[in-house]
Amino acid sequence: MKCVLITGATGNVGLEVVRALHRRGDVKIRAAVRDVAQSATAFHDLPNVQLVPFDFGDAASQTAALAGCDSLFLLRPPQLTDTFGDLINRAKQAGVGHIVFLSVQGAEHSRFIPHHKTEKLLKACGVPYTLLRPAYFMQNFTTTLRADLVQRRRIFLPAGRARFALIDVRDVGRVAAVVLAEPGPRHQGQAYTLTARHRLNFQQMADQLSQGLGTKITYESPSPWRFFWTEKREGVAPGFILVLLLLHYLPRFSAAPPLTQTVQEITGQLPIEFPQFVADNRAQLLGLASPP
Ligand SMILES: NC(=O)c1ccc[n+]([C@@H]2O[C@H](COP(=O)([O-])OP(=O)(O)OC[C@H]3O[C@@H](n4cnc5c(N)ncnc54)[C@H](OP(=O)(O)O)[C@@H]3O)[C@@H](O)[C@H]2O)c1
Repeated sequence: MKCVLITGATGNVGLEVVRALHRRGDVKIRAAVRDVAQSATAFHDLPNVQLVPFDFGDAASQTAALAGCDSLFLLRPPQLTDTFGDLINRAKQAGVGHIVFLSVQGAEHSRFIPHHKTEKLLKACGVPYTLLRPAYFMQNFTTTLRADLVQRRRIFLPAGRARFALIDVRDVGRVAAVVLAEPGPRHQGQAYTLTARHRLNFQQMADQLSQGLGTKITYESPSPWRFFWTEKREGVAPGFILVLLLLHYLPRFSAAPPLTQTVQEITGQLPIEFPQFVADNRAQLLGLASPP
């Protein structure tokens, strides 16, 4: 049976990749985690997953985790600046035959984001690869944007009326599972942009959240300066505020991102739309349940 190593396995996307592969049942799943004992609870309902120690900063852990693996799901944790040249070489030396990289929509045009460099390294490394370029995660509302939503019933982002292509990370997991598990070269050398079928601006997202949650959610779009100082006063790290600005302010000045049908083409299922995401995560979005 094919063996797949999943990095970032405890995170939003990685855990959904593990779950989707587990449902298929046709590959050996190795979840790469920083702390095997602490991570065990995240996988309590996934009995066929082997947890292996892995740190992006520790070459020895990478070599051990990669030994005997056929495929690698490579994810760049948001807090790291590495572009993974050494890890890609280690995977090559270990005989990994396919690397699936979680990039970001538009990475091919944005030379300043680290994903762009990793994509280039993969194209040059000689190991068959597939690039997944997902749109804006709906799950940002259950992670980075959740506190404002729960405590103030508001979205506070300098995004104006810019429209965003969205994706539920469960769909990213489903696509990744197909690409990792299917035999043959069909997905090799491909770059897949993953989106749901509708673009929304944040006012429309606030309206759909209000409807789905049964409580008014407001949307306020501050100037970049006001956004920066408000977040800084609330203790958010300046580097992270700049990332939020980049993600939400710059799209006001570029064309709306394209939509694709790739999720349906690869999985055979329509992608999850925003109202469904809201319904499925209602308790978390209202602050009635903690994030897992
Ligand atoms: N947010 C969006 O809208 C969006 C859209 C498109 C693409 N993306 C891309 O998606 C990626 C983030 O995915 P995500 O949301 O799933 O991330 P996440 O939830 O923050 O998960 C990060 C994962 O990386 C692990 N990790 C962190 N540091 C590590 C280290 N030193 N060694 C080993 N593992 C480490 C974490 O493990 P621990 O449990 O040990 O912390 C966790 O499993 C980024 O590359 C981002 O650019 C994001």
